[in-house]
Amino acid sequence: MSISLSHRLQAIADVIPPGSVVVDVGTDHALLPIYLIQSGVAARVIATDIADGPADVARRNVEAHGLSERISVRCGDGLATVGPGEAQTIVIAGMGGATIRDILAGTPSVVGAARRIIVQPMNLAQHARAYFFTHGFRLVTECALTDGGKYYEIIAAEPGEPVEYEGYHADRVALEMAWMFGPQLLRSPNASVRAHVADTVQRWGERYERMKASRRPAVTQQAEALLARRAWLEGWLHNVGDPITASREATGGTECGNNHTGCH
Ligand SMILES: C[S@@+](CC[C@H](N)C(=O)[O-])C[C@H]1O[C@@H](n2cnc3c(N)ncnc32)[C@H](O)[C@@H]1O
Repeated sequence: MSISLSHRLQAIADVIPPGSVVVDVGTDHALLPIYLIQSGVAARVIATDIADGPADVARRNVEAHGLSERISVRCGDGLATVGPGEAQTIVIAGMGGATIRDILAGTPSVVGAARRIIVQPMNLAQHARAYFFTHGFRLVTECALTDGGKYYEIIAAEPGEPVEYEGYHADRVALEMAWMFGPQLLRSPNASVRAHVADTVQRWGERYERMKASRRPAVTQQAEALLARRAWLEGWLHNVGDPITASREATGGTECGNNHTGCH
């Protein structure tokens, strides 16, 4: 029986290079590995999960589709069950950005041997992007979509210089916003990205109003930092796709508007 994927999983499958060995970390049901073999995209897949329950479900699904020879189901934390060079493509989807960063940081030999890493963080995508930025990866593709009313980002990275951040070095806030929302997504946004940024501006405005009532200096400082980030996003919404103008608007014309966190 042929598997059909959700829009989110299909968007991940679409950026997997054909013919590679893929490891799917946190595979759960193993839908993606089964699809990748059935569609001829992957030669072989390693499907791993930290928990026994999902690994058992994955194993049963793989067997039911007659694919045990091509999909190896393993149980373990992150990439711990994978040898260096065993897979050229790493997929980590459906987890928080901090967990994704920890998995990548936990196995440098496996990550260092990969040709492409595809992540789909459920939150805090800035941790994954900051990891790539500081560990010699460039973002080759970013895509954003709304599926079932939820916003998803899919980020594909390969070894190389992170040239996609050009224009985001004007100040620290610009770089942080690029890590959070994606340098390419901010430069060429679709309707989902614009809606997500507009929604964030509203939520941060509400959070700022709650925080500014506090008398604790630490909270007041955080509130001011939040305001600077919100101002940057508002500038971006007025000049969609132009990070430099967004920085200028947020800071009233100066190159650097955030003295709290330091400038580049
Ligand atoms: C929400 S499911 C996502 C399933 C699938 N990747 C997807 O995107 O549809 C998250 C899965 O990741 C697994 N997981 C969480 N932390 C993990 C880790 N450190 N290493 C491996 N698997 C992990 C969980 O057990 C769970 O099965």
